[in-house]
Amino acid sequence: MLNSFIFQTRTRVLVGDDLASDIPSLFTESKNLYLLTDEGVREAGLVDHILSSLDDSQLVGIAADVPVDSDTVYVETVAAKLRNLEVDGLIALGGGSVIDTAKAVNLLLKHGGQLNDYQGYGVINGPLYPLLAIPTTAGTGSEMTRYAVIKDRESRLKISLISPFLMPDVAMLMPSLTTSLPPSLTASTGMDALTHAIEAYVSLDSNPFSDALAIEAIRLIHDNLLLAVKDGRNLEARYHLLVASSLAGIAFDNALVGCVHAMAHALGGQLDVPHGLANSILLPHGLEYNLREAEEKMQKLSLSLGIGKTAEDLVAWVKELGNSIGLPVSLKELGIKETQLPAIAEAAVLDGAIHTNPREANNEEILRVLLAAFHG
Ligand SMILES: [Fe+2]
Repeated sequence: MLNSFIFQTRTRVLVGDDLASDIPSLFTESKNLYLLTDEGVREAGLVDHILSSLDDSQLVGIAADVPVDSDTVYVETVAAKLRNLEVDGLIALGGGSVIDTAKAVNLLLKHGGQLNDYQGYGVINGPLYPLLAIPTTAGTGSEMTRYAVIKDRESRLKISLISPFLMPDVAMLMPSLTTSLPPSLTASTGMDALTHAIEAYVSLDSNPFSDALAIEAIRLIHDNLLLAVKDGRNLEARYHLLVASSLAGIAFDNALVGCVHAMAHALGGQLDVPHGLANSILLPHGLEYNLREAEEKMQKLSLSLGIGKTAEDLVAWVKELGNSIGLPVSLKELGIKETQLPAIAEAAVLDGAIHTNPREANNEEILRVLLAAFHG
């Protein structure tokens, strides 16, 4: 039987060396703009560059303190402040946390209430204020997705907001903004993007549109991640990685992800393991688990990347890539204890990402995957 599917995307993408001067023309409907960013981005001097294009009457403020793992209290506080300032347009300059925070702030600013009111599908029922996303890492792909994940400060669980209305109106991909990213972050965010692309490609919800984007993202990461880790100033490698990350973002926005993300979400929520790092360690083990169910597609990837002839060769390449870019290859190396894994497995099988994994997964099976990743 032929598969029915829907493919949707809405964000306009501008790619270029220096697009800052184009920013004012993107906000013709907005009177009061506000910029969200984080300390690291400000210290790298990237904020000034963006500000140079805006005059004071248009920009009413900047928050440069978005936390690495943004939470409900932060979002609700910023949204209340911005309502008083009558903000009607947002710029998110940063990595996934900054962009997700901007999506969530935009939601509360426009529609009011608390983040808990908006969990799940179909609960956001109208457009938000214009949002421009300028990623400074090549990883989360959040600039292209309808998702925002925010931690609930009380329960420590992640709140997932899902709606096409959350998607940024415009994503500006400026490779020069990513050249100051240190090798370790380049490596882990790059592995997050690779995980999006591979999990989207083998997902039960994949379709020919998402496949095309995922394959190109994987190829670009294969060709460029090691180069960018070795030499952060390699602008060509940075360019390709930023494009790959956005392509992977559109792919998984439509096809969703799988068991690797389910486990990474649990490790992030319970043990604060950085998302890209968790994905990097877990990806070869998740693929091994999916080997039979996704064999044809994994083999296709091995052949098209020229890394081998079998699905197993893809698993070996992913493992070797993580190792060659200097990331830990086992959960043990992160200081995690074996006794913590059952609770992680329990949370992972309840995570939404598990539903589109090509092989069904229960508690015991996921625990076995986690144990394999523990030993590396
Ligand atoms: Fe991810």
